[in-house]
Amino acid sequence: MRLLKSISFFILLTVCFSGLAQAQSREVMELKSGWKFTRNADEAAYRSQYDDAGWETVSVPHDWAIYGPFDKEIDKQTVAVTQNNEKVATEKTGRTGSLPYIGQGWYRQKFSIPASGKNKRVILLFEGAMSEPVVYLNDQKVGQWNYGYSYFYFDITSYIKNDGVNVLAVHLNNPDQSSRWYPGAGLYRKVSVIFKNEESIDQWGTTVTTPMATTDLAKVNIRTAVSGENVRLVTEIFDPAGVRVVAGQTDIRFGKEFDQNFLIKDPKLWSPESPNLYYAVSKVYAGNELKDELKTRFGIRQIEYSPSTGFSLNGKTRKFKGVCLHHDLGPLGAAVNVAALRRQMRILKEMGCDAIRSSHNMPSLEQLELADEMGFMFLAESFDEWAKPKVKNGYARFFNADAEKDVVNLVRATKNHPSIIMWSAGNEVPDQHGAEGVKRAKWLQELFHREDPTRPVTVGMDQVKATLQSGFGALLDIPGLNYRTHLYEEAYRVFPQGFILGSETASTVSSRGVYKFPVQKQVEKQYPDNQSSSYDLEYCSWSNLPEDDFVLQDDKPWVIGEFVWTGFDYLGEPTPYDDKWPSRSSYFGINDLAGLPKDRYYLYRSRWNKEKETLHILPHWDWKGREGEVTPIFVYTNYESAELFINGKSMGVQKKNNTSPQHRYRLMWMDVKYEPGTVKVVAYGNDGKVAAEKTISTPGKPYAIKLDPDRRTIQADGEDLSFVTVSIVDKNGNECPQAANQLKFSVKGAGKYRAACNGDATSVEQFHLPTMKVFNGKLVVLVQAGESAGPIELVVTGDKLKEGRIKLSSTASSAINK
Ligand code: GAL
Repeated sequence: MRLLKSISFFILLTVCFSGLAQAQSREVMELKSGWKFTRNADEAAYRSQYDDAGWETVSVPHDWAIYGPFDKEIDKQTVAVTQNNEKVATEKTGRTGSLPYIGQGWYRQKFSIPASGKNKRVILLFEGAMSEPVVYLNDQKVGQWNYGYSYFYFDITSYIKNDGVNVLAVHLNNPDQSSRWYPGAGLYRKVSVIFKNEESIDQWGTTVTTPMATTDLAKVNIRTAVSGENVRLVTEIFDPAGVRVVAGQTDIRFGKEFDQNFLIKDPKLWSPESPNLYYAVSKVYAGNELKDELKTRFGIRQIEYSPSTGFSLNGKTRKFKGVCLHHDLGPLGAAVNVAALRRQMRILKEMGCDAIRSSHNMPSLEQLELADEMGFMFLAESFDEWAKPKVKNGYARFFNADAEKDVVNLVRATKNHPSIIMWSAGNEVPDQHGAEGVKRAKWLQELFHREDPTRPVTVGMDQVKATLQSGFGALLDIPGLNYRTHLYEEAYRVFPQGFILGSETASTVSSRGVYKFPVQKQVEKQYPDNQSSSYDLEYCSWSNLPEDDFVLQDDKPWVIGEFVWTGFDYLGEPTPYDDKWPSRSSYFGINDLAGLPKDRYYLYRSRWNKEKETLHILPHWDWKGREGEVTPIFVYTNYESAELFINGKSMGVQKKNNTSPQHRYRLMWMDVKYEPGTVKVVAYGNDGKVAAEKTISTPGKPYAIKLDPDRRTIQADGEDLSFVTVSIVDKNGNECPQAANQLKFSVKGAGKYRAACNGDATSVEQFHLPTMKVFNGKLVVLVQAGESAGPIELVVTGDKLKEGRIKLSSTASSAINK
């Protein structure tokens, strides 16, 4: 249990402005530790007197299913996936990750009201609960919510005991066949209790928009819904440096809402490159008494979509260099973790990515905060199903009754994030067919507009022909095409919007460090080892290679960007091995499930990251047994041409050209024969001069374990993580790309071993056990900080290998590199 005093920082400012200082007006108590959890309790578990002594003690965010074990039988679905053009049902084993998410779970938490919270209005806020949460407090049912991805809250004032212990119980239920991917299970996002006065700002009651935003002037409109009589609102706006730039007060309400407009001169605009953030402090007074105070962060930016200029941010046309992300964090499952999210976004930023689509549901609030801070544009999605189902027990069961409140909560909870530049009302919904679906699309879009008139709405469409004919695509603000690169031209001609968004692109498949021969384009190719080739030439019947999208993005001014499927591998949906055990996670990622880059990372980086050089060689050069055999070499680079040398001998110069989409974006030497030694690539600039060089060598035998943490100092908050990349190297420090050693991990000091992941989609080793095999020479260990500061040591050992040892530390100071 942790008490966050949202107010103390502002007391001084309050004094300066109004001459009034008051005691705390609002407190947030996050319910973190000390939860009791079980999967096997009866219905009476909601009662205060229920004996939960035998239950597990857990912290929230919590995902009960991620600890496994993986099991082929879990959620085995014998289905034909019609979206994937399948006609015949086959047994799908890893579709939802083969992890035990199905079934019922109970969580219970006991808490007392802090003295300052007594006799206040009390709100209980869930940022996501998987799924169908039913909430009880002190033996009474408070409410329920069906969709596992929604944020929702209940006013629990009439249920709470001001004195003594309150017992909160939450029941969750995950039916089988309720998802197309691993959904996670449990209270996987934050739960908090908010105490506030009667006279206070409503939950999600502040709405900040910037109707005008230029570098000279910005108009900031703030609407604030406030409860209570005879109240007055004071609003102060602070710039990114924390300096108060403008303030105003009012006692005129329109219904429940105050409506204030501010002028900010020379505003610092928000963009992915300069993610400047302002914040508003809203204070509610009754007479001279401060009753509530709330800080709302926002950005000043202007978005526009038009046939003549496509998408523009702050007046400049740009195309989304985006990725789709599922919500799971690999070895952490669905349990939200800021350090893991931040690491993902650092990796994406380095690739030059500037946008994220939360496929196919509500993003975590933590991820949106990071997007605001680190500079990512966000396409916030809501549903993967409307009224027509994709899976037997999916959201279609709830759509008619719940869709409106799910959309309302999505928009109200997240609308002030400058990163959000578009809403998505759905992904590849089967409702694309039929008149009812067209009506649903219109209805949903209007709901989004009602809640937020400032952002447009898209739907990711795969049934493009149907939506071209029915009016479904024409009515959307933004026509989003999933794949179907061959239909872009037609869609552009027929749809009235004047532009097309690649709402989902590529779906190329690969396994990190795996290369298959002969090197050729393949559709849904399966190999006996359940891996896909990292020559990046394999895709699905409905999808395509990255370059098919690059061509459209580069040649068609009316294509406004792309969201690649996917930035990182995710649990479940192991296409092209949907029916092959033990595949249990995806192959689509630009990065693997451990967050390690696959070769494709450098292909995207070579065109997206304009600041830095990319010169990447594939495959690795450790091919004992392939001597004399054709082993093509590809180079992903931002340079136009390069020369390749094998053991000093030139293999010729390759130059990007238009003979095929691949030749336009990759340099390829198709006839190289393997011989051990060195591969050197010399890149030439446009002036013909040598611009850069890179060499890779055939390694010797595995000799030692090398450790490389993403951060050496982490926060002593019980949650922060250091991600340590573990590589097997030879005597000279060269990486051994074929190594498959079993390793053991131990952590001493002020931290603990949290999990490991090797990115192998076929591994059934459990993430939280302190041993794992490296996959193609690498894996990642997650070391978690405890709650007290101090030194931490990670030791990694493996048979016949020199051990790896690294010192990390955790600190109480927040002034660390995050
Ligand atoms: C799309 C779908 C995604 C994922 C992807 C795999 O059709 O929207 O959720 O299934 O295909 O290629």
